[in-house]
Amino acid sequence: MTKQELNGNVRPESMERITTPELAREFIELQTEAIREQVGKGRVLLALSGGVDSSVCAALISRAIGKQLCCVHVNHGLLRKGEPEQVCRVFGEQFDVNLIYVDAVDRFLDNLAGVSDPERKRKIIGKIFIDVFAEEAAKIEGVGFLGQGTIYPDILESDGVKSHHNVGGLPENMRDFELVEPVKLLYKDEVRVVGKALGLPDSMVYRQPFPGPGLGVRCVGAITRDRLEALREADAVVREEIEKLPARPWQYFAVVPDIKSTGIKDGKRYMGWPVVIRAINTVDAVTATTAELPFSTLCAIRDRILSTVEGVNRVLWDFSDKPVSTIEWE
Ligand code: XMP
Repeated sequence: MTKQELNGNVRPESMERITTPELAREFIELQTEAIREQVGKGRVLLALSGGVDSSVCAALISRAIGKQLCCVHVNHGLLRKGEPEQVCRVFGEQFDVNLIYVDAVDRFLDNLAGVSDPERKRKIIGKIFIDVFAEEAAKIEGVGFLGQGTIYPDILESDGVKSHHNVGGLPENMRDFELVEPVKLLYKDEVRVVGKALGLPDSMVYRQPFPGPGLGVRCVGAITRDRLEALREADAVVREEIEKLPARPWQYFAVVPDIKSTGIKDGKRYMGWPVVIRAINTVDAVTATTAELPFSTLCAIRDRILSTVEGVNRVLWDFSDKPVSTIEWE
């Protein structure tokens, strides 16, 4: 493949599927040169969520241009346990990139207080995210480029082959930025192979899909800080126990709906939330089947949650398929 082909938006038919570390290294070398040529002495700004695509994109750009890359990690309070810390550790220390960490937790949660409609919740999260990112961008001088972890299915799904399919969502002051999209011709499995070859940890490279609005759509109804914390803790338990299994489901997580039921603790009535376990298998997330969890795994999850997670007095298993149920509860 040539550098010219790498810049286009159509995957050349001759492009071999990247399945081995050797092929990944070849791609990385070519892309490193292409990024250097495109950016020159310019500066690139990138929103780093900690997801596979933005992480691999950041690692590639950082390899090519080092400190000319500036990453912004916005902590919206809806990330899973340990995620903001992992982003800071991997990119701030291991890759030594310019990393701006923004603690926007209060801003997100204050704006979400009392909002129970799922679509309004999504819109608020999306809007504040863009606002925070734009505010940070405005503080950095000399940025001419925007790094984006666009992957090939994003281009195919954006109705034909358009170059700036994501730009519509950007604030005014960023629309003139030129995009740097080093993984835009890759399929997801190839992004993972490249990420591994770049030295990213397995927990990042093989991360299960996680919605942009994060735990926000799993803290069903109006989000409160105490229920969100219970969800984060319970979710960590669900993931840890399921990850002990020889084969992991496609997606697995906890949900905490906004209801309370009667329980008993220290001989007294104890009103608490239920934690719902959800684990599914799917190919494309359009339909999904329930993953068969061993009863011993369910019991281990139950015991840990009921003995450690504040405010919870019941554990349920959602074994509904899609359709009729969607994967997420909201
Ligand atoms: P549903 O709930 O529609 O989910 O069966 C299908 C897949 O999409 C993910 N999902 C989202 N991803 N923003 C995202 O980035 C969202 O608002 C969102 N809602 C659902 C979900 O986790 C599942 O993998």
